[in-house]
Amino acid sequence: MNAPLIDPFARPISYLRISVTDRCDFRCVYCMAEHMTFLPKAELLTLEELDRLCSTFVGLGVQKLRVTGGEPLVRRGILTFFRAMSRHLETGALQELTLTTNGSQLRRFARDLVDCGVRRVNVSLDTLDDAKFAAVTRWGRLPQVLDGIAAAKEAGLRVKINAVALKGFNEDEQFTLTDWCAREGHDLTWIEVMPMGDLGAEDRLDQYWPLRDLRDRYAARYTLADLAERTGGPARYVRLEETGQKIGFITPLTHNFCESCNRVRLTCTGELYMCLGQEDMADLRAPLRASPDDAALQAAIRAAIARKPKGHDFDYSRQAVAGQMSRHMSHTGG
Ligand code: GTP
Ligand code: 5AD
Ligand code: SF4
Repeated sequence: MNAPLIDPFARPISYLRISVTDRCDFRCVYCMAEHMTFLPKAELLTLEELDRLCSTFVGLGVQKLRVTGGEPLVRRGILTFFRAMSRHLETGALQELTLTTNGSQLRRFARDLVDCGVRRVNVSLDTLDDAKFAAVTRWGRLPQVLDGIAAAKEAGLRVKINAVALKGFNEDEQFTLTDWCAREGHDLTWIEVMPMGDLGAEDRLDQYWPLRDLRDRYAARYTLADLAERTGGPARYVRLEETGQKIGFITPLTHNFCESCNRVRLTCTGELYMCLGQEDMADLRAPLRASPDDAALQAAIRAAIARKPKGHDFDYSRQAVAGQMSRHMSHTGG
């Protein structure tokens, strides 16, 4: 039996986010540049290599695996990977296999994902207005995504909507989105926009809408009950007593949650990022390819976890952005 992964701050690492592709069919403005140079296919880990790498993490105690991108469902053969991972659900080694998606391909994949043991999906959706949706994704079509979400629901998947809170963009939709989620039976989580990517620092500050404001606006309309419940991710939840609805808040800026961090991120080229908000990463592709023996790979993973930093340095206070990183969110899948 392998000793579990524990970082230098005594945090057990039980959650792996695996970005299976850097590509996406959308270009959300806070996530990607309009003209991206994507990795050549030859750079990507094969599905077999991704399987071996993720399985090694599962062998080291990872219990929750979230597949991300870019858009994970545009990776060719992605169901083969989900099927491979589902064997860890069957043995009980893995407690949850899930994904974060833009929803565009869910009509095609929802049933197969259920067959692979996926029980819930997180879908990014910042607006219910066609024109605003096209603007924030640069060319996405809202009806396609709503149809994908409907397909997920029909297939029995629980859906959580992720909305990035953007000042001057979806402030007027806080309750429209909330009411729609209530009607459709979806959970809703708001996310503070993080200073990543190649936009000028001022732009991020202009877009930043602290979730404290949203919470105050909910409190003015509903009775809020703080929920102790956690999903293994960074969100904190409240229930709106009048509707029974659960609302999540992911607040890297106004309420840092790093002290309870349980996760690391793997890219599609085998880089392991120990923190979303730091540049340090470890190359796992070299030990993966150097030997079919997992011992060296396990040692490389342990050495990387031993370097996990305390937390990110994102900060928008004093009317300036600190901790901004040029890395795009799509590189590590959020
Ligand atoms: P649940 O399992 O539903 O709790 O999901 P999750 O919140 O772990 O995953 P999801 O992909 O829905 O995450 C939503 C967003 O939260 C991510 O894309 C990031 O923007 C942000 N996020 C998740 N984990 C971290 C983290 O460790 N640090 C920071 N700063 N942000 C994070
Ligand atoms: N800040 C906050 N969230 C972001 N996401 C992408 N870029 C950012 C950013 N700069 C979110 C997406 C999606 C998840 C994968 O990451 O909206 O829900
Ligand atoms: Fe963990 Fe880093 Fe995220 Fe903080 S920013 S919660 S340390 S991954």
